[in-house]
Amino acid sequence: MQENIFVSDYARLVSQELKLPKRVRIFDTTLRDGDQTPGVSFTPEQKLLVARQLDRLGVDVIEAGTPVSSEGERRAVSLIAKAGLKAEICALARPIKEDVDTAIACGIDCAHIFISTSDLHLKHVLKMSREQVLKQAVKFVEYAKDQGVKVEFSAMDATRTELNYLIEVYKAVVDAGADRINVPDTIGAITPRGMYYLISQLKPHIKVPISVHCHDDLGLAVANSLAAVEAGAEQVQVAVNGLGERAGNASLEEVVMALKTLYGIKLRIKTRLLTETSDLVERLTGMAVPPNKAIVGDNAFAHVSGIHAHGVIEFPGTYEPFSPELVGHHRRLALGKLTGRHSVEKQLRSIGVKANKRQLAEITRQVKALGDKGKQVTEVDLRAIAENVIGALPKEEKVVELKEVTVTTGSTITPTASVRLSIRGQERVSSATGVGPVDAAIAAIRAAMGEISKLKLKKYHLDAITGGSDALAEVTVELEDEHGNVYLAKGIREDVVLASVDAMINGINRYFAGRK
Ligand code: KIV
Ligand code: ZN
Repeated sequence: MQENIFVSDYARLVSQELKLPKRVRIFDTTLRDGDQTPGVSFTPEQKLLVARQLDRLGVDVIEAGTPVSSEGERRAVSLIAKAGLKAEICALARPIKEDVDTAIACGIDCAHIFISTSDLHLKHVLKMSREQVLKQAVKFVEYAKDQGVKVEFSAMDATRTELNYLIEVYKAVVDAGADRINVPDTIGAITPRGMYYLISQLKPHIKVPISVHCHDDLGLAVANSLAAVEAGAEQVQVAVNGLGERAGNASLEEVVMALKTLYGIKLRIKTRLLTETSDLVERLTGMAVPPNKAIVGDNAFAHVSGIHAHGVIEFPGTYEPFSPELVGHHRRLALGKLTGRHSVEKQLRSIGVKANKRQLAEITRQVKALGDKGKQVTEVDLRAIAENVIGALPKEEKVVELKEVTVTTGSTITPTASVRLSIRGQERVSSATGVGPVDAAIAAIRAAMGEISKLKLKKYHLDAITGGSDALAEVTVELEDEHGNVYLAKGIREDVVLASVDAMINGINRYFAGRK
């Protein structure tokens, strides 16, 4: 794929003056710090799904969890450690025998051992002296190394720790065998310049790779992570969609794309899998990604104003720093009061409608009028307006029809679904399991479609239209074909599973309609 990147020359110019690492390792903590997001709690099966996706994405390290904390965590970390993934599998442990033993018993490659080092934490959290903390850190780094695993050591609250003591601790754990040291900005309380200074101060004393772990309390997690890399940090700890304690961690997708496009740093990440990774984590956690979220949000490549839309139609680099395909996303020309004729024409073409000059002008006028009334103009609205102006539009043929769907689920059984579809008049039956009934039903449809279509589910969104337990469920799906074309479809029913099935089938029919 051609990589169309259109970033500022000034960014590249100043980074040439820095001693940047040739390669930066991506340490993903979605399943550990991300699992500490208020309202999020991954099951072991969900963790395994996410770990497999992170491995496909190409992260260097997967922090799978905190084994000492529960039976489910131990199962999750063991499942991931035994899954034969390419990434290094890591688990969190305090410098306590039980923590380290439990983590190692899960079959991990690396123990991430942490202890607080700031005087504030020593006094109020640990109630220990500096000497005691140092001794305990060294003892358990040595202990873990003796068991044959790698060790990454974190000095919690490092960015508020007195520098000489911080250097002393890091040097001691490196002498004890630590393979990497991590510098956590635990409460997101440093500036990019402060982080640059701190890493620059540590660098001459530390002979192993330096990692950073930035929280987003002041919205600076990504900027602080990049500043650490500018000062020579060779690894960044990140989480998909910026999940994590409180305001979260540095977002994986933002750090990755900044390192790649603004600094030209080599990573192992297959960036075209970023959006589907974000979607999977959004679906499993129920933590909605804000539409205006950088890189993976719905609006990340959506253009509203006529000037912008015209620009990207002429040459995408005019209003995009890189092409959406690079991150597995797609460009969208949002319609509303600021829309110009070019966008309307392009959107009409994408739904197979041709309009002459006069019709196009009238459709554009009606789109703007709807926008002026404060309405978001959807594809359905556009079809209706076009139908009104042009006359009857070609009907969407139904290649696939749902004949029957059955789902079994419960607290002690794996959700399973069977579907009977008619595909161009031929019946196909298939069944599949999933993490929930919706997942199982969608998997069964995909299994029934088999080789006929290789559509990928890019987005799944559920809304309750009315209140109460009998609310109407509106499911929106976005399917993507092998050429990156996206098909949006909806299903509305009282039953979430049926609404999801309808949305999938409608999307598949759209795909076939677009191929004629
Ligand atoms: O924020 C933090 O300090 C942490 C450590 C365990 C690395 O999450
Ligand atoms: Zn953290």
